[in-house]
Amino acid sequence: MSAQPTKLEPLAIHGGTPVRDKLLPYGRQSLDDGDIRAVVDVLKSDWLTTGPKVAEFEEQFAAWVGAKFAVSFSSGTAALHGAAFAAGLGPGDEAITTPLTFCATANCVLYQGATPVFADVCEDTLNLDPREVSRRVSARTKAIIAVDYAGHQAALDELRQIAKEQGAFFIEDACHALGAECGGKRVGSLADMTVFSFHAVKHLTTGEGGMVTTNGARLADTLRRFRNHGIGGGARERQQSGQWFYEMGMLGFNYRLTDIACALGLSQLGRLEANLARRREIAAQYTREFRDLPMLLPSVREGVAPAWHLYAIRLKLESLSVGRGEIFRALRAENIGVNVHYIPVHQHPYYRERFPANRAAFPIAEKAYEQLISLPMFHSMTAKDVGDVVCAVRKVLSCYAGKGGRASTGVPDGSG
Ligand SMILES: Cc1ncc(COP(=O)(O)O)c(C=O)c1O
Repeated sequence: MSAQPTKLEPLAIHGGTPVRDKLLPYGRQSLDDGDIRAVVDVLKSDWLTTGPKVAEFEEQFAAWVGAKFAVSFSSGTAALHGAAFAAGLGPGDEAITTPLTFCATANCVLYQGATPVFADVCEDTLNLDPREVSRRVSARTKAIIAVDYAGHQAALDELRQIAKEQGAFFIEDACHALGAECGGKRVGSLADMTVFSFHAVKHLTTGEGGMVTTNGARLADTLRRFRNHGIGGGARERQQSGQWFYEMGMLGFNYRLTDIACALGLSQLGRLEANLARRREIAAQYTREFRDLPMLLPSVREGVAPAWHLYAIRLKLESLSVGRGEIFRALRAENIGVNVHYIPVHQHPYYRERFPANRAAFPIAEKAYEQLISLPMFHSMTAKDVGDVVCAVRKVLSCYAGKGGRASTGVPDGSG
């Protein structure tokens, strides 16, 4: 049962009129005619799979982020797997990462037979806390995998230093952070390997797709082989040189991104700056509008320009009469497509069963999870879309604010 609102305007969840007629998703792609033409051109060409567009996309992407090499993959998850492989992770090794991420970040460690070790996050950015990482470093630590939560860079300098002292690889999962900057430098060359995703809700999409960028020539070579069954060179190079011979020197996968996808990626790359600018505008507007509401707004550290993949608020549950689940459902009823990022990885049944020692071990990530709601954030949002989100959030939170609070139960509320 829903608690009753106090304001005159009834919430949609209580039978009132929703702020919008149609659901506004929390994220979505935007494609233009140029994107469609680029894909159709490839469909009419000789190469659908690993043709000229792959190399072109990789070169332009590397240049855009400021890295020497970029190696494309069929998804961000496959790219993470490639990075875990190239870092040499194997049975007996550990990789330290954050629990507040999509499970793919930790799964890539398991794919290699190694063990993910979680460390808690910083209260402000919800990114991996270097002090917590230091406490967990051991002779087994072979990699540190930071995530730039919501598009705000992790503490890359400190984490890189810890990895260096340990002789471990530093991998940055920048699936949220394409275009994020710190001290004027873009993510992409600030870790041994940086991983990106081109899923439809990301800044640039190829449908599914991913990329690893690196300044290491050997790492790039390993990554290229890994995504192609462990074989060096591609079918196109062999065709061009009139050769049939190839050798498989290691066990790899088919994680190749197609020419169709890379043509889309290339076309989207041309609009990336504009997309980022629009996301920054939307974030600034949310921040202005929500200052007086019972929520913690995303923090931005000095010198950082986040890429704003997400705009994730944390509800001040002690100042609200209902829990996160009710607020979530009320916003959905207003047709605002909110979401929650993330159920901490160690709380998923698969991880709970295999790593029982992790239970209730990361208080900041666990508390944040109970408070988090991601508001719609995508570059093609119109002024009306943004206005509707502001209106619905104000409507719902003013209705439930200031009623003495509701103590946290410590259990998930099933809001998804
Ligand atoms: C932080 C993070 N890492 C990894 C991934 C996996 O990327 P993909 O969906 O492209 O496999 C995602 C996807 O959303 C993500 O958010």
